[in-house]
Amino acid sequence: MCGIVGYIGPKDVVPVLIEGLKKLEYRGYDSAGVAVAGPGCIRLCRVQGKVSALEEALRKSPIQGAYGLGHTRWATHGRPSETNAHPHVDCKGEIVVVHNGIIENYLALKSMLKAEGHVFRTETDTEVIAHLIEKHFRGSLEEAVRAALSTMEGAFAIGVFAVKDPGKIVAAKLGPPLVVGVGDGETIVSSDINAILAHTPRVAFLEDREMVVLDEAGPHFMDFQGKPIDKKIEQIQWNPLMIEKKGFKHFMLKEIFEQPQVIRDTLMGRLSLDQGEVLLDETGLPPAVFRDIRKAVIIACGTSSHAGFVGKYLLESLAGIPADVEYASEYRYRDFILEKDALVIIISQSGETADTLAALRAAKGRAAATLAITNAVSSSIAREAQGVLYTHAGPEIGVAATKTFTAQMTALALVALGIAQAKGAGRVQDRMAVIEELQRLPHKIEQILNRVGPIEELAKQFVAFFHFLYLGRWVNFPIALEGALKLKEISYIHAEAYAGGEMKHGPIALIDEKMPTMAIIPKDRVYEKMLSNIAEIKARSGFIIAVADENDAAIRDHVDVVIPIPPTHPLLTPFLSVVPLQLFAYYIAAKRGADIDQPRNLAKSVTVE
Ligand code: G6P
Repeated sequence: MCGIVGYIGPKDVVPVLIEGLKKLEYRGYDSAGVAVAGPGCIRLCRVQGKVSALEEALRKSPIQGAYGLGHTRWATHGRPSETNAHPHVDCKGEIVVVHNGIIENYLALKSMLKAEGHVFRTETDTEVIAHLIEKHFRGSLEEAVRAALSTMEGAFAIGVFAVKDPGKIVAAKLGPPLVVGVGDGETIVSSDINAILAHTPRVAFLEDREMVVLDEAGPHFMDFQGKPIDKKIEQIQWNPLMIEKKGFKHFMLKEIFEQPQVIRDTLMGRLSLDQGEVLLDETGLPPAVFRDIRKAVIIACGTSSHAGFVGKYLLESLAGIPADVEYASEYRYRDFILEKDALVIIISQSGETADTLAALRAAKGRAAATLAITNAVSSSIAREAQGVLYTHAGPEIGVAATKTFTAQMTALALVALGIAQAKGAGRVQDRMAVIEELQRLPHKIEQILNRVGPIEELAKQFVAFFHFLYLGRWVNFPIALEGALKLKEISYIHAEAYAGGEMKHGPIALIDEKMPTMAIIPKDRVYEKMLSNIAEIKARSGFIIAVADENDAAIRDHVDVVIPIPPTHPLLTPFLSVVPLQLFAYYIAAKRGADIDQPRNLAKSVTVE
């Protein structure tokens, strides 16, 4: 959480920082600030609120400088306020720091520094960094930063500059991501490539315990001991236009509409159609891994864990191996038992979620292999897992994940099919049927997207409701979880999701005319069971909206409203059923005037525990 950007180069620094912060705002948006280097001084502007509020403040009282740092915050230590907004400074206001992460020993450091006479102005853990650097400063900023780093515990990505060692920005990483953009005569450091791409596609990703000094000559990379590092500069393929709204009112809506293409892109080059085969060589894992594993353990957080849940069903049905889904935040602290013949599948859109990364590290070396499914090229998780299968979803800006969820399910279908093929599990024609249907999904999603009007109309009816129940069974139970999560995240309506069969064990007590149910009922092996579940709701005056097959005329006798989806292979219905649920949540939130792309209290990339 929190976004950092720093710039040194010929452009006017404040607009560069502001544009960068706008791209990073998905990482946190409760306060924002910039600091620029004036002649012999630091000029600061900080506000509570979003980057737009910072822009407004800068319009009223402009500041200028040669180079600078910016920050957009998601509060951990210290409530959102102007005082707690970054950048933070030392006692004399000569050293300025932005930080993403948590300094776990900040209380001990703070009392030590206070005892030495340092004066603190904020409630943040970050401020100790500024004072630590001040304490160690002898003329070289990078040396002072190194000395400070040696006493700091926790997770951090920091950016620093100082009046008394002008012309440079120092940045360091242990945990949260930092990327350096290497342009023509200019250098940018940022939490994410999004803030860099408008300037250059050439980037270097810092590893943990690496730092960089940016000056007029470009970036100089080194480790925390000061030993120079020869960093690889990579060329990024994403183009800046991919991060525009392209006429959609919100990024989320644009991203929902990108799902057909995202499936095509994630499948591309990974299917050999004449052979009816899935190609997993690009993961970097030896084929023997897929042949010999006897179990899968899927680890993820949030929406990625819901994709993992769908993956569990796919792995069990297609590859015939047991699969468990684990929340990374729980798994990492458990005395987990990991068999040597298990494949650990780590799912993370950002590739940077702190809990997921920690679970990967805990699992590594204890299983047959670790395989990351991620959308972020060269992210920490992509680099640390033994194998990686990228979801080709392009940048996702809306905080509520949509297209990356679909891309994750696509990648999981490929993995399940690849394992089945390597093991010779099931019949070739059954696998072929799934492969063929996977390719038809984009067109079927387009059909759903071509008739959003009725979903928007339906959303209008439910704008003022406070509670929702989402029900699904088998492969659509995870979609009930995901649909309810979308509604909660962006519209702030309470929504509970249950496996249909569980409803009678408690949640049914909640049912009345004020608690509508969203039921996912495609014609699959649990269709009849779901019909019984919704009959129990109808008998208690519950209103039912059903996501059902478009050719299921009979369903209309059992429910109040139907949202039709095209029929597909029973294992693949989640790819279709999730789309109306995303749209329903979107249109309700839009009608409620909610901040859809940046819902309150959330952040897209959670790089703290
Ligand atoms: C945050 C985001 C969610 C996301 C979760 C896991 O909570 O708001 O949308 O599902 O993190 O993120 P990851 O990047 O690991 O998939």
